[in-house]
Amino acid sequence: MHPVASAAETRQVKKSFVTGEVTVEAVRGVTVAIHQGELTAIVGPSGCGKSSLLSMLGAIDTPTSGQVLVGGVDVATLNDYDRTLLRRRQIGFVFQAFNLMPTLSALENAALPLELDGLSQREAHERARAGLEQVGLGKRVDHLPSMLSGGEQQRVAVARALVTNPTLLLADEPTGNLDTAGGEQVMKLLRELVGKFGQTVVMVTHDSEIAAAADRVLRMRDGLIAHDHRPSAVVESTPVLTPAKPATAPKPTPHPSKHKTSKRRK
Ligand SMILES: Nc1ncnc2c1ncn2[C@@H]1O[C@H](COP(=O)(O)OP(=O)(O)OP(=O)(O)O)[C@@H](O)[C@H]1O
Ligand SMILES: [Mg+2]
Repeated sequence: MHPVASAAETRQVKKSFVTGEVTVEAVRGVTVAIHQGELTAIVGPSGCGKSSLLSMLGAIDTPTSGQVLVGGVDVATLNDYDRTLLRRRQIGFVFQAFNLMPTLSALENAALPLELDGLSQREAHERARAGLEQVGLGKRVDHLPSMLSGGEQQRVAVARALVTNPTLLLADEPTGNLDTAGGEQVMKLLRELVGKFGQTVVMVTHDSEIAAAADRVLRMRDGLIAHDHRPSAVVESTPVLTPAKPATAPKPTPHPSKHKTSKRRK
């Protein structure tokens, strides 16, 4: 199975920030399609434009020029109200700082986007409960954020981002504030969401090990995508277990004694 449809795409997207006399070109013309049902990681050095690109994919920020399409809809053609609805219903955002309301329980936190969208409290809570079960926190619904581990808090944030059934789940350094175990927990969850439920996820990360678990890695540099590759595809083309004989018919060698040590070339 190879997903082809794009959940979101950018076309020659640029973003400049003007502060006083300084203009920073954060994103300098990025054209990329985010495939449905994939986990895409965006990596690259600090300041290369990762968060800026993610914000534009999530219709949180508007490009200086170029187009952003979410679910096939050009975001620029929407009025403020429709853009708000798009953000609220089609995009789930998870931030590095979990941004949970400290005085609300896990359930109330996860239900917030639905209540904001006009659902009754009962219905919102019902769906939030299902969301928390999905992220493995069905037994923690009444806990306040302070009673949860970092990894658990971030899973509540993921549940909150998922309750609206978004087309796109965007996460900016979701494991950045977590210890290794917590980070792995969240990464495993994101992988499962993609594998089991076909969720589309775009995640910014500094952690190359975490990025290696993605379906696709976009490496940014100076506001551009410098590399676009699939970590698993790289592993497949470089087998760890080398077959005794090359797959293609070996050339007859004039020195059979050297055969064992001869290097295969691609
Ligand atoms: N609101 C803003 N006003 C002015 N400059 C900004 C603004 N937001 C981002 N920038 C600048 O744009 C560039 C890209 O920022 P961005 O936040 O996208 O980088 P990043 O790759 O996410 O970095 P990090 O890994 O540190 O989070 C940076 O040089 C930053 O200083
Ligand atoms: Mg950033």
